[in-house]
Amino acid sequence: MWKGRFQGDVSQKMKKFGQSVSYDYRMFEEDIQGSKAHAQGLLAAGILTPEEREKICSGLDEIRDEIRNGKFVFSEELEDVHMNIEAELTKRIGPAGAKLHTARSRNDQVATDIRLHLRSASKKISAAIADLQSSLVDLAERNSDVVFPGYTHLQRAQPVFFAHHLLAYVEMLERDAGRLEDCLKRMSLCPLGSGAIAGSTIVLNREEVAASLGFAGATRNSMDAVGDRDFACEFLSALAIAGMHLSRLSEDVILWVSSEFAFLKLSDAHTTGSSLMPQKKNPDVAELVRGKTGRLYGNLFSLLTTLKGLPLTYNRDLQEDKEPLFDSIDTLLACLEIFAEMLSAATVNREAMAAAVSDPLLLATDLADLLVLRGVPFRQAHEMVGKLVAESESSGIPLSKLPESTLLSIAPLARDGFSEIFGIQRAMRARKATGAPSPDGVLHALAFWKKTLSEKNSPNL
Ligand code: ARG
Repeated sequence: MWKGRFQGDVSQKMKKFGQSVSYDYRMFEEDIQGSKAHAQGLLAAGILTPEEREKICSGLDEIRDEIRNGKFVFSEELEDVHMNIEAELTKRIGPAGAKLHTARSRNDQVATDIRLHLRSASKKISAAIADLQSSLVDLAERNSDVVFPGYTHLQRAQPVFFAHHLLAYVEMLERDAGRLEDCLKRMSLCPLGSGAIAGSTIVLNREEVAASLGFAGATRNSMDAVGDRDFACEFLSALAIAGMHLSRLSEDVILWVSSEFAFLKLSDAHTTGSSLMPQKKNPDVAELVRGKTGRLYGNLFSLLTTLKGLPLTYNRDLQEDKEPLFDSIDTLLACLEIFAEMLSAATVNREAMAAAVSDPLLLATDLADLLVLRGVPFRQAHEMVGKLVAESESSGIPLSKLPESTLLSIAPLARDGFSEIFGIQRAMRARKATGAPSPDGVLHALAFWKKTLSEKNSPNL
């Protein structure tokens, strides 16, 4: 591609070292899409005849179909996907192919291709996020009446509906999808026509080319357009945050399936045994997802580090953006998909949850609230209930069963209606504030998510 200036060929080692086609071939669809749009721009600028443009486009379509069918052989000699496709096109159609690179550099070409690629990857990830949200909502709905302990500091705190806990993750995933959408907004300008660094003296209608590729407009600064990758960092960051959420969900699942909690059962299809200990059933999916989150973080840091010392504009270092991007896309998609499948096949151990939530200490705060409603300032109410808890602990009598004499000496105002406080149904019904887990609140949230997710999946959108 640059034989004019060179007398010798690069060494074999250099070819192996410098090639990116072994992984950037993944952008072939976008590369061909971009080239076809560019050919149209060249036609409008009078550089190509209609026949030449036609030859280029049908040649590119042919190559694309061969790549799709696995019939195309990429060559590392030709470095990257861009040169592989262009060289093959020129081989097939002759002089018209050699005109395609007019007013274009691989620098604006690759900057465009990555944006297009991330755009389509975002669609797949958003759909996979919606699928996982649906599995969470289904699991929540199948168990919408189940109450279990909510934890802070991994200590039993207050009763919540199991559905409320699952829907917390649905909220997190919704923000993850939102972050992806936001990041697409800053990918919405097309770099094509920025050339290597300073545009071209052959002036194309960049806005038209951009629009034909579905961009909102053309980038405003050619140096920024070819040298910047902040959109890729933002994308990796969105994926890393989504991974962090999945990792927290993994941790919950790992705890829930342990015999210490025994709240959840995973199907055999998503667990493994031990080669040594016959009784084991391990939550490998959740552990792997938690583990892979490290890669998602690593990929973000890899690119941030690659970028930090780069002078403007394009430097070959930028070729190192692709592997972290592709790896994060593959990793997160795989995690989302397997997690959705695993949760769809999981079952809840209602007895274990009911036993855990029957601990009256979970309603100590409700007791303090009762005193508040009877005029005791909260801090004092808190102290009184704290004393009752200490009394229960030292005597071994459950909080809900403390004798009247103890109540009268520590918190006389709690006497009427004391035992009713420990009814779990009452406790749940009382949590009526927006966002709190009352039975109605949870049913409402379930209905909201079912509607929201079905609209997302609607083919009309
Ligand atoms: N494979 C290269 C990359 O991924 C394409 C751009 C090459 N540009 C250049 N001036 N060598 O960044």
